[in-house]
Amino acid sequence: MGFLDKLFGKTPEEENTMNEKLNIGIILGSTREGRVSPQVGEWVKSIADQREDANYEIVDIANYDLPFMGTAETAGIAAWNEKLAELDGFVFVVQEYNHSISAPLKNALDSAREAWNNKAAGIVSYGSTGGARAAEHLRGILGELMVADVRTHPTLSLFTDFENMAQFKPLEIHLENVNMMLDQVNTWSKALKTIR
Ligand SMILES: Cc1cc2nc3c(=O)[nH]c(=O)nc-3n(C[C@H](O)[C@H](O)[C@H](O)COP(=O)(O)O)c2cc1C
Repeated sequence: MGFLDKLFGKTPEEENTMNEKLNIGIILGSTREGRVSPQVGEWVKSIADQREDANYEIVDIANYDLPFMGTAETAGIAAWNEKLAELDGFVFVVQEYNHSISAPLKNALDSAREAWNNKAAGIVSYGSTGGARAAEHLRGILGELMVADVRTHPTLSLFTDFENMAQFKPLEIHLENVNMMLDQVNTWSKALKTIR
């Protein structure tokens, strides 16, 4: 325990909590048959895992039985909330549908509340214009859910980062941005953990 920590009385338990690796979920935002989001999510995870600074996992909303919010009670809603509660931060893999996020992602966002609060998130988006319009819509939603979205935002083009808009072949230049985004997600996730 450092001198200042001794002075201000940080307990060993608090110290351990601060040093624990964070759990960051890489959330796949689409459930469409034939979707490309798993390729993008695996790419983000492969970059993230090399950093060894947090526990990264793919969280696929397609694996949760999430009915349209308010239409039914399912075990999937509870499981979704439990998964989110385990996480300290998020990376949203966002695809643009009619200039916004996908309906399944909006529904997944609406299907939890407290489990999102006071956590941080980064966005990796794709589309004809890098998914920028969808990502900006997501930022507004995250504000309401008290998720702090970081500045750096890798944008992938359906034309230059995919072959035939189906095979993901990302340009090298995105690597730096993904790491910068992850730096910011980790810093803010760690900070926000102290107020939960
Ligand atoms: C209904 C629909 C609407 C779409 N609208 C847009 C759009 O507004 N802007 C855009 O850049 N791409 C648009 N796209 C293309 C998707 O971004 C592209 O198909 C992408 O691969 C979808 O992500 P996914 O494969 O992970 O589901 C649209 C695709 C669909 C099926």
